[in-house]
Amino acid sequence: MTPKDFIPIQEPKMISSGKVTWQSPSNIALVKYWGKKENQIPANPSISFTLNHCKSTTTLKFKKRKKTDDFAFNFFFEGKEKEDFKPKIEKFFERIESYCPYLKEYEFEIYSENSFPHSSGIASSASGMSAIALCLMSLEKELFPEIEEEYFNKKASFLARLGSGSASRSIAGGLVVWGTHENIEGSSDLFGEQFPYKVNKIFKNYQDTILLVDKGEKQVSSTVGHDLMHGHPFAAQRFQQAHDNLSKLVNVLESGDTSEFIKIVESEALSLHAMMMSSQPYFILMKPNTLEIINKIWVFRKETGIPVCFTLDAGANVHVLYPEDQKDNVLEFIKNELVVYCQNGQYICDQVGSGAKIL
Ligand code: DP6
Repeated sequence: MTPKDFIPIQEPKMISSGKVTWQSPSNIALVKYWGKKENQIPANPSISFTLNHCKSTTTLKFKKRKKTDDFAFNFFFEGKEKEDFKPKIEKFFERIESYCPYLKEYEFEIYSENSFPHSSGIASSASGMSAIALCLMSLEKELFPEIEEEYFNKKASFLARLGSGSASRSIAGGLVVWGTHENIEGSSDLFGEQFPYKVNKIFKNYQDTILLVDKGEKQVSSTVGHDLMHGHPFAAQRFQQAHDNLSKLVNVLESGDTSEFIKIVESEALSLHAMMMSSQPYFILMKPNTLEIINKIWVFRKETGIPVCFTLDAGANVHVLYPEDQKDNVLEFIKNELVVYCQNGQYICDQVGSGAKIL
């Protein structure tokens, strides 16, 4: 498919007003997206687990109006009008306007809330942007009722990507690939797609306990972070590494080999941080407690043989990943040994989920 395939060509139906609500999850990348080209095209393919509990619930109210040169919308976050989020949505609307030519013919009210604590350091752009994209697709489906489910989901992911790259991986459930990879059929730079091959049952309900180490404002926005990959001395090697790790992961996901899984996932997390440490300017996004946790996980794994591992986003929080049948053991370990490193003792228990839902 090409971007042109997402431009509507039929005549829209006349819809005067309506309302729709979507619940869309966050996701955690196993192979990381870090670096992008023009138009939100990723520099390398990535794959993530869709989460179950960390999600945004977003309602879009729309009312037909006389078209003007501007977008007309208000944004409410957790019940309060949020001006500082508006430029992000404005930019999103600008990026998607050619694919959603009806945008300026409506006025919108967008109401959003997250299931995870505000400013927990958990990126809400993936769940938030994918939820708005899905709401817009529901409007589009009313305008063009002939739209089929496959197109609906692809375009929702395509639009979400234009809001935030990782949001493209928050439409489908399970494991989602975004970015063209030579060994993954159907993979595309334009949208995320559910991982198309066999997945061992151990990975179907994998657990992710998110340890909130630092809930502060992000030190580096992901936009700035992605930019640091332009002219980065190790960029080409990093992009190749992501391709190679994804190739290896295809086999591991089928075989259920957790020790290989751990090697890939932890190396990806540390490589992402290594990129930030070796860019110009350079950043250290881990905190002392992030390292304490990583070391404790390594000791616990060695002593017990339990296949628990970590991954990181572009921040200090730690995602602890493990099979469901080890839940009791790992939660006990977390409570006894890791909670002391969390801010206010806070952590969130999540697991692989089934993707976005309309309410
Ligand atoms: C470290 O999707 O937040 O979480 O496209 O600029 O909105 P933008 O970036 P964003 O980047 C996420 C990067 C990451 C890794 C990942 O989720 O793959």
